[in-house]
Amino acid sequence: MAASTDLHRTFRTQVFIATSLDGFIARPDGELDWLIQRGERAGDTGYDAFIAEIDTIVMGRNTYQKTQTFGFWPYEGIPVRVLSTQLDADDPNIIITRNTTELVRDLDEAGARNVYIDGGQLIQTFLRESLVDQVTITTAPVLLGSGLPLFGALDNDIELRHLSTTTLAEGFVQTTYTVPQV
Ligand SMILES: NC(=O)c1ccc[n+]([C@@H]2O[C@H](COP(=O)([O-])OP(=O)(O)OC[C@H]3O[C@@H](n4cnc5c(N)ncnc54)[C@H](OP(=O)(O)O)[C@@H]3O)[C@@H](O)[C@H]2O)c1
Repeated sequence: MAASTDLHRTFRTQVFIATSLDGFIARPDGELDWLIQRGERAGDTGYDAFIAEIDTIVMGRNTYQKTQTFGFWPYEGIPVRVLSTQLDADDPNIIITRNTTELVRDLDEAGARNVYIDGGQLIQTFLRESLVDQVTITTAPVLLGSGLPLFGALDNDIELRHLSTTTLAEGFVQTTYTVPQV
């Protein structure tokens, strides 16, 4: 059972995200063209197997708003929580949650076991609050020079434990770490 330093919880959280080699998850305007084109040639990234084990998705407002440009809802059948201090959306696909304290309480009450954490800023706040248990990063062989970063400032170092690294097609490299909760 996972435990955080500040918030007791009964569920496990995982990040499964793609970055450029210089650590960006999107261009400055949120564009994913650099990833989508290459990603289609990367072969099996394990995403389908990963998402099949997920019972709840938690994403930041910006990531949610990006999904609204896809023209379809990609998470049919999976409860999705969108963290935002300001979003006010009438969307039956999501539940809006204002902060991590409320989120942990609600997910515990809902019986969540395996939660997917998505969105750069969201992941950063979750790391700072010891709310991330495992991180899988699929790195694309491209430098973007600027963009939205996966990682950001920390008050303290966070030690990770390396689990595995695999090489995919088109030069993608996928690495998984666990984040021991101290
Ligand atoms: N490369 C990939 O695999 C990948 C994966 C996911 C997303 N993306 C891309 O990344 C971009 C979005 O990432 P992002 O870093 O800009 O933002 P994000 O994490 O999706 O969203 C940030 C927003 O989420 C809310 N939020 C985050 N943490 C919170 C907390 N602890 N409590 C309350 N609200 C919280 C805040 O919304 P408010 O300002 O409303 O309070 C914040 O402004 C999109 O372009 C998306 O397509 C790429």
